[in-house]
Amino acid sequence: MCGIVGILGKHEAAPILVEALKRLEYRGYDSAGIATVNDGVLDRRRAVGKLVNLSDLLVHEPLLGKAGIGHTRWATHGAPTVSNAHPHRAGPIAVVHNGIIENFRELREELAASGFSFVTETDTETIALLTQKYMTDGMAPVEAAHKTLSRLDGAFALAFLFEGEDDLLIAARKGSPLAIGHGDGEVFVGSDAIAMAHLTDQITYLEEGDSAILTRTSVEIRNADGEIANREKRTIQIDQTRVDKAGHKHFMAKEIAEQPTVIGEAIRHYLAADGSKIALPDPGIDFTQFDRVVMVACGTAYFACMTAKYWFEQVARLPVEIDIASEFRYREPPVGGRTLALFVSQSGETADTLAALRYCEGKASKIVSVVNVPESSIARESDVALPILAGTEIGVASTKAFTCQLTVLLMLALAAAQQRGEIAEDTLSQHLADLRALPGLLNATLDREPTLRDAAHNLSKARDILFLGRGTMYPLAHEGALKLKEISYIHAEAYAAGELKHGPIALIDNKVPVIVMAPRDALFDKTVSNMQEVMARDGKVVLITDKAGATEASDGVWETAVMPDVPPLLAPILYALPAQLLAYHAAVAMGTDVDQPRNLAKSVTVE
Ligand code: G6P
Repeated sequence: MCGIVGILGKHEAAPILVEALKRLEYRGYDSAGIATVNDGVLDRRRAVGKLVNLSDLLVHEPLLGKAGIGHTRWATHGAPTVSNAHPHRAGPIAVVHNGIIENFRELREELAASGFSFVTETDTETIALLTQKYMTDGMAPVEAAHKTLSRLDGAFALAFLFEGEDDLLIAARKGSPLAIGHGDGEVFVGSDAIAMAHLTDQITYLEEGDSAILTRTSVEIRNADGEIANREKRTIQIDQTRVDKAGHKHFMAKEIAEQPTVIGEAIRHYLAADGSKIALPDPGIDFTQFDRVVMVACGTAYFACMTAKYWFEQVARLPVEIDIASEFRYREPPVGGRTLALFVSQSGETADTLAALRYCEGKASKIVSVVNVPESSIARESDVALPILAGTEIGVASTKAFTCQLTVLLMLALAAAQQRGEIAEDTLSQHLADLRALPGLLNATLDREPTLRDAAHNLSKARDILFLGRGTMYPLAHEGALKLKEISYIHAEAYAAGELKHGPIALIDNKVPVIVMAPRDALFDKTVSNMQEVMARDGKVVLITDKAGATEASDGVWETAVMPDVPPLLAPILYALPAQLLAYHAAVAMGTDVDQPRNLAKSVTVE
């Protein structure tokens, strides 16, 4: 997490840095700060909370200078206070940092023994102090920064600025992404290309272990061994305009409403021109080469994988193993040949997912990613990167990216079934026709918002909520519980409906609402039996079902929300919408910060 930027420009840097930080606020919003060099004088401004607080501070205490660095923080070491906010300064050095310095305690002890004292609780301060120490020992800025870099363990992206140096920035990456933007007589640094999209479309991505010495007219990149490295300059295509809420109260509401459109686009993208079959973009994937699929992701993307496991196994008869990236990467799972390793990530930058991908390099026979950001690290390091085409997602709680991930994964499962001869032609044609009709059904689902809003208002008074589902509704129950926790801060848990009696049923009383997700499918009767067990114990049930389900089972239910009829294969995509709307309206009723909920960040670039 944390976003970093740097500029050696022709104009006043402060407003440009703030605009770049706005584009990086998805990485964290605990505090923000900038530092500039003006006629050789290094100075900084920092403020706790959202970026707007830093902007306000800059109105009263402007910062001049055409060279600068900036940071938006997601706190790891030390509370979100002004003194812990970046940039961190030690004498003539200011530094911004994304990542974690794992050996910072040893370095702190070493610095303390040399007489240095600390004013923050951060790991980053050790970087600034170490560089100061080397400069005090007589090293020039570049040499001191490189010496410091050689002492750091862990994952980091860094940008250094120096007093007396109006035309020098040093950038470095190890484990956390960092890009350089090339301007006309200007140079930029950013955690991603989006941060610099208002400044340039000419981008160089630093590779693992790279450091860069930047001036307005030169970019010198060195690899981990200190050798000069040539890194490709790419022209990237990123929407230059900042996304707005288009009349909605929150980005999340806008992104929920966009789903019929973006899912429609994703479906079109993966269909052949005549609509008769799935057509994967070049270079394609040959599913006959694999005996199994391993899917790895974090958060909401993991629940997309959990859903896709049902699809791949049922439709393509391909065994699937799923795992959370932070577990997968350390448990040394055997990944033999004939394995397709599939990584799902909205941002494409999640540290654990990227590490899991790297673990599979050289082991799996193919590495495929399903990503929203095509320029991301995960996309760039995959053999095949499949875009989900959700467009920029700003709300921290993922909505349209989740349903677009599901859509692409379902189409991938159908492609696998098609190639492996596991699906009859007319069955496939029916599924494809159903997919084409899906955006219309999603629009009809959004029309149910008033009922879901009323149910959410009642739910917002609860302290604990359970979600139940069977089959593909089980991962959906997880996603519903996660959404509710993330933005309303109500404690919510998901269980497979059949697991209820193995423990969680002890929690049931009339204060714990139970949300049951159950379209009238082959498993409906089983789920309804579990729902009856809840009601027999005074539990209050919110039933999300279709017309047939409501007719059969809504007696005695607290609230019923009736969804449009949907073919079972597509039900998870459609039933994601009521789960999102319940969470959204519960959060609005609670008055929380829906788009930037406490303690969270949209892109998690630390372990
Ligand atoms: C964070 C976000 C979640 C997201 C997860 C994985 O926790 O708040 O919304 O699902 O990271 O992110 P990714 O970008 O890899 O999908």
